[in-house]
Amino acid sequence: MGMQNQGPAGRGTTAWRQDRVPAVRLAGLRKSFGQLAAVDGVDLEVPQGEFFTMLGPSGSGKTTMLRLIAGFEQPDSGVIELAGADVTRKPPYSRDVNTVFQDYALFPHMSVLENVEYGLRVRRVPRAERRSRANAALEIVRLPGLGGRKPVQLSGGQRQRVALARAIVNEPEVLLLDEPLGALDAKLRQEMQLELKRIQREVGITFIYVTHDQEEALTMSDRLAVFDRGQIEQLGTPVQVYEQPATDFVAGFIGISNVLERGGRRFTIRPEKICLLADGEQPPTGSHIEQGRIDDVIYLGSATRYQLTLSGGGQLTAVRQNTQDAVAGTLGAAGQTIGVAWREDQAYEIAGRRRGAAASADDLAPAGQRPVRHEGRERG
Ligand SMILES: Nc1ncnc2c1ncn2[C@@H]1O[C@H](COP(=O)(O)OP(=O)(O)O)[C@@H](O)[C@H]1O
Ligand SMILES: [Mg+2]
Repeated sequence: MGMQNQGPAGRGTTAWRQDRVPAVRLAGLRKSFGQLAAVDGVDLEVPQGEFFTMLGPSGSGKTTMLRLIAGFEQPDSGVIELAGADVTRKPPYSRDVNTVFQDYALFPHMSVLENVEYGLRVRRVPRAERRSRANAALEIVRLPGLGGRKPVQLSGGQRQRVALARAIVNEPEVLLLDEPLGALDAKLRQEMQLELKRIQREVGITFIYVTHDQEEALTMSDRLAVFDRGQIEQLGTPVQVYEQPATDFVAGFIGISNVLERGGRRFTIRPEKICLLADGEQPPTGSHIEQGRIDDVIYLGSATRYQLTLSGGGQLTAVRQNTQDAVAGTLGAAGQTIGVAWREDQAYEIAGRRRGAAASADDLAPAGQRPVRHEGRERG
């Protein structure tokens, strides 16, 4: 599964091209339910071996996307390719994908081992091979020795691992995961996030992971697409999407957003990039400086959050790590005025909502990558 042949120099261009065939390619994908466009024109390529996440609020069309890829829904229009083959009109069983659902969907009357073996049995893989592959899959998900148990005799986290083993044992080209950690408590979730990432690296299968949890998406993904109302708002690496949100929606959905307007241009800046200036303190070179009135000071333990109203207009949240000062509010209390600075190259111009625009990476990247030039007092 999945291992790329890096042939010696001189191998034909065909081999090179084959290596480049994306695991999943979607073009112009649309699916409506009555008046509602659940998937509203999606173009996407996911390369082989990538951990790709679809992130978006409830109702943004993530599950519908996965169901289209798996073949449980038929698109109204558009094309779905898996490893270069058009599967748009193919039934689910002839697509080389497996799905892991939030509710695990294990067979309660079967043992763990029988559950994991199930897909291989359907495909008439001989018994001995079935056994050894199922046991290997249980080892990968760190559940060796539990094959004899029934699902009810397992914890939630263990059941999730069985569901995963049951999918990876089939060695699909693509594994679709629909909020697979949603039923777990916060601590277990975090553990499983790292586990899933490890497993994905180990087996090399392309993962398409769906979540509404931005932290999860940032932690786990090689790249992610932010969805809203059936469209991709932004596509990029976690760093790109967090540091350079391309639209209002992305800025607001991922992390705390500061959206400001200066000289007719709108831009975002992340709270931890804002420098609050104690009396006599100088901002970093190349900073834009304004005065801000402190509206609120919130002590968070490792950091303190300041809510500010800027003299130039607009509200701002700034976060300052409590590395030096143990006491919140050492910089000033509510009602006081303070110098507020940010580096120009950390402010990113954003577009407004992009309804109807072709939301491809190429389309959205330039706006997000262009630092903003402010009017106003400059330094450095
Ligand atoms: N079978 C269906 N019939 C009617 N509406 C549906 C159906 N499936 C999904 N929808 C609607 O499509 C939109 C997207 O749903 P879904 O893909 O489940 O979003 P998500 O997984 O992001 O929460 C929602 O408004 C939902 O109500
Ligand atoms: Mg869903």
